Amino acid sequence: MKGQSLVVLCLLTTACFASSWVDGASPRIKSRTRPKSNATTQTKTKVGCYFVLGDSQADNGNNNVMEMAYGNARADYKPYGCDFNREGTPTGRFTNGRNAPDFIATYLGFRHYISPFTTIKGREILDGVNYASGGAGILPETGRTLGQVLSIHKQLENHNITISQIRGLLGTRSATTTHLNSCLYTVQIGSNDYLNNYFMPQFYKTSAQFTPQQFATVLNNRLYTELKVLYEQGARKVALFGVGSIGCTPYARANFENKGGGCVDKINNAIQLFNDGLKALVLQLNTKMAGAKFTYIDVFKISSTIPSTSGRMVLNAPCCEVDAGQVQCTRLGRICGNRMEYMFWDAVHPTEVGISALASRAFKAKEAGDAYPYDINQLVFY
Ligand SMILES: *[C@@H]1O[C@H](CO)[C@@H](O)[C@H](O)[C@H]1NC(C)=O
Ligand SMILES: *[C@@H]1O[C@H](CO)[C@@H](O)[C@H](O)[C@H]1NC(C)=O
Repeated sequence: MKGQSLVVLCLLTTACFASSWVDGASPRIKSRTRPKSNATTQTKTKVGCYFVLGDSQADNGNNNVMEMAYGNARADYKPYGCDFNREGTPTGRFTNGRNAPDFIATYLGFRHYISPFTTIKGREILDGVNYASGGAGILPETGRTLGQVLSIHKQLENHNITISQIRGLLGTRSATTTHLNSCLYTVQIGSNDYLNNYFMPQFYKTSAQFTPQQFATVLNNRLYTELKVLYEQGARKVALFGVGSIGCTPYARANFENKGGGCVDKINNAIQLFNDGLKALVLQLNTKMAGAKFTYIDVFKISSTIPSTSGRMVLNAPCCEVDAGQVQCTRLGRICGNRMEYMFWDAVHPTEVGISALASRAFKAKEAGDAYPYDINQLVFY
């Protein structure tokens, strides 16, 4: 019987070639073709363009060209991307399907996803650029154990390169400024400053140097400085994603003191201090940065209240096979068949179904406090 269900499964998931370790369940998320990339979509979008900054939650291929110390912080191998299109092409996205910027680009009316900085060419930059880099953080040293990653500051330096290219395409400084002012900017950063820095005492001294509150303040202050740079570069509509409840990821559950048990409170408590500061930062930015609107997306809250799609949602185990102590899927490893019923794809990154719930509530808040003071839809309209 098990053999039979595997045959059915393999027919349905030729893209996700790996065999399933869950029997029976109906597997396939409907496949889709990636919309053709063409920078001619401005007529119907809600914003002039969309710039993406962040870490692996937003990276869609920037790290594919990076040198990585342990082959980590890159997701351009199978089974990553197994639900992204019919072929199950790994693109560098750290999930089985689309990531949050993909969903947001679609909600904004773009007919294609925003391309990564490392490969984007020509007029497509007028639609926006994705600078995000897996493993990256607010602090420049965060993620360094993984190899070459692009910190938030490095991403802003890359944005400068884009800006001069846009200037070249549009001809004048004022046309460039008007264009940059009309865009949406999302920033998803901070998780790695905890998982790949503060809570990695074998490589980093930060937890000996700072209390959780002090460290949160260091990060908040640094991010404030970077966001001022982004404002000076022309950003006027900026959504800041808070850090999710990473103490509840399968990685945290398996590798900290709970050893296979529940959420790791010391991680979640430290994250909450950062998030509280980020929310305060948004108010401060909205007061001080004339003409700009910043908003805070409460990922921590949303991620702890995502309802299951089928009455059953596995929260404490990854869908893909992950080697002991690791974060990412094992290369060519097994995957679960019922990917709609798993919150986590690998040991830290959500499945497409989890990401979709987050992105849709970031765009249109479902409950008070999902987004503060605006959801992204309000941010781009007003
Ligand atoms: C992009 O748009 C231009 C102008 O409308 C068109 O000539 C070109 O064929 C399009 N390219 C693709 C890949 O759709
Ligand atoms: C971007 O360019 C401006 C103008 O040349 C410069 O003042 C600024 O420091 C640069 N910012 C970054 C992050 O490189």
